Amino acid sequence: MMNSPEDRTNWHDALRLILPAESISFAEELRAEFAHDETEDLFFLPDAVVSPSTPEEVSAVLRLANDLGIPVTPAAARTGLSGGAIPVQGGISMSMQRFNKILSIDSSNFQATVEPGVINQVFHEACKEKGLFYPPDPSSWGTSTMGGNVAYNSGGPKAVKYGVTNAYVLNLEVVLPTGEIIWTGANTLKNSTGYNLTQWFVGSEGTLGVVTKIVVRLLPYPKHSYTLLAPFASAEAACAAVAKVFQAGITPSGMEFMEKDAIEWTLKYVDGVTIPTGPGIEAHLLMEVDGMDEEAVLREAEHLAEVVEAHGALEVLFAQSTSEKEALWKLRRRVGEAVKKHSIYKEEDTVVPRAELPKLLRSVKRIGKEYGFQSVCYGHAGDGNLHVNIVKGSMTDEQWNGEHLREGIRKLFTEVMAMNGTISGEHGIGWVQKGYMDLAFSPDALLLQKNMKKLVDPKGILNPGKMFL
Ligand code: LAC
Ligand code: ZN
Repeated sequence: MMNSPEDRTNWHDALRLILPAESISFAEELRAEFAHDETEDLFFLPDAVVSPSTPEEVSAVLRLANDLGIPVTPAAARTGLSGGAIPVQGGISMSMQRFNKILSIDSSNFQATVEPGVINQVFHEACKEKGLFYPPDPSSWGTSTMGGNVAYNSGGPKAVKYGVTNAYVLNLEVVLPTGEIIWTGANTLKNSTGYNLTQWFVGSEGTLGVVTKIVVRLLPYPKHSYTLLAPFASAEAACAAVAKVFQAGITPSGMEFMEKDAIEWTLKYVDGVTIPTGPGIEAHLLMEVDGMDEEAVLREAEHLAEVVEAHGALEVLFAQSTSEKEALWKLRRRVGEAVKKHSIYKEEDTVVPRAELPKLLRSVKRIGKEYGFQSVCYGHAGDGNLHVNIVKGSMTDEQWNGEHLREGIRKLFTEVMAMNGTISGEHGIGWVQKGYMDLAFSPDALLLQKNMKKLVDPKGILNPGKMFL
């Protein structure tokens, strides 16, 4: 690595030869912004922030970094929850925010091409205007970018019916760590040509290449939807009702679980929502059904209400207006932020086969008691994806960073694996979960992944220190 003052002057000068001056910054304030994302309280300063605006500029920076052994960490909105966009080894933070154009929305083929810095919701709205639907909708959609969503294979509430990001990505333009610019696939709905390079990059957390164009497929925008809210006297009963809904033949377009504290803490930050809370209510399911035929959607909503009522819901409330629907979803989207305002927390993004959800919740609470941590759980129950937020609360820094808590988390993940689950459903491994990868993969499967990384990034300059110990 290039760390002496002369080395630094050299690579700083070399950067100035390949990028316009306004695309390079050594300013403390900007570097401090790129030193963190939304993960815990992590902070690692980069030496420089560069903001290229073309694939050729990305390529030139990567070639330089590869020649000189400088770490490069791609980043955009920095809403990540596993520390993946943090420059843990210093070097260059590569901001993708200037890649912010929707290049085309092709209504005749139901496809679009976007740059990675386009904000998810901006793209969603642009498609909606043309009657087209891009379903992946992570809670951060108002700020998170399409490139970040590809890097983490992001999900969101609609994933339960429509799938996560990888179900939409058809083709990617990628700059490899050694500077080559490639396309990974084709702009077709089917593709049996060669290895599936496209999906190799989806979810690779910015460790294999820098995505510079994304081609996605789209759906027709569903015309009708109903949003339902059901309080439960027992959190475990709420989790158990989830699988019953699917077993009844219903595929909701949203099936979210929120524990009591998640709702009560979030209500402090969101106006205009009325939700039954208080003694006797331990959790809620927030549900949605959607489709093209109004009567069919209403029938499905009524069926859904009957099923959850038969499985422990205290009542089922239908949102009466678009603004009521939006308020409920806004509340749901802001849970993570509200928990963060309450306390520093570690987020464990557990995922199990759907019917194992009650067992997972029981494990979380039992292990919490055993290891002395409090947790607030919420998440995409229909996908078996439970966000377990371990709150620091009154824990000392020693306890928070100590071996005992790590052991507790390891025990939780071990039980998750025994339920045929895995350690991250949508937030990725990044910096904070890499110590648990041995639970999710055999040594051979881990080695294969490390070798794949080495193949494209022999010097290990792209987003180093992530994914693997
Ligand atoms: C959510 C994010 C944290 O589900 O994944 O709100
Ligand atoms: Zn989530």
